[in-house]
Amino acid sequence: MLEIEGKSILFDPFITPNPLAKDVDVSTILPDFILISHGHGDHIADAVAIAQQAKSQVIATYEVCEWLNKKGVENFVPMNTGGKINLGFCTVKLVYAAHSSSLPDGSYGGNPVGFVIIHKGGSFYYAGDTALSNEMKLIPEECKLDFAMLPIGDHFTMGITDAAKAAKFIQCDKIIGMHFDTFPPIQINHDNAKAHFAGLGLELTLPIINQTLEF
Ligand code: NI
Repeated sequence: MLEIEGKSILFDPFITPNPLAKDVDVSTILPDFILISHGHGDHIADAVAIAQQAKSQVIATYEVCEWLNKKGVENFVPMNTGGKINLGFCTVKLVYAAHSSSLPDGSYGGNPVGFVIIHKGGSFYYAGDTALSNEMKLIPEECKLDFAMLPIGDHFTMGITDAAKAAKFIQCDKIIGMHFDTFPPIQINHDNAKAHFAGLGLELTLPIINQTLEF
């Protein structure tokens, strides 16, 4: 979850089924907005409960919104890749992600997306689940990123080497790693990952659960 000018944005909530997040109390999470990159269970597990308790507005692709609506979520903005929306305190743009998207019950999830957020104080990129992609080179043509959240766990997404290449593609040297350690196939060696990034002049932060970072 991120806070910009007093407004909170939660990305891809996967908490109750996540053993690493067992100490997080979902009932205390009250975001103004929930952004969902795609329909996979490890990105949407707690979306319905949080959206309902916080009366958050959900921003996701048309197909993901349609599924959430069937589960009882009423405040949502269906969008698709390439589209942007002005939320007043920031602009959210849905960008390409090289991945797949289906919902937990197997229904079609549309295309996966990443999000570029531009606000008065700066810009950042939340990549969602994605492979390294040439499309990422388009992002710095639009804005100068202060930091980016990139998947680094390999197996289902980019691994460490490709994520460092992605940092070069997006011309951003402050990277927050995500999508690592949750399941055995995506466990990483933190020291090796940080050393690889440092060797390329990049700073990799691997946040721990409940940690607060400031940018
Ligand atoms: Ni996924």
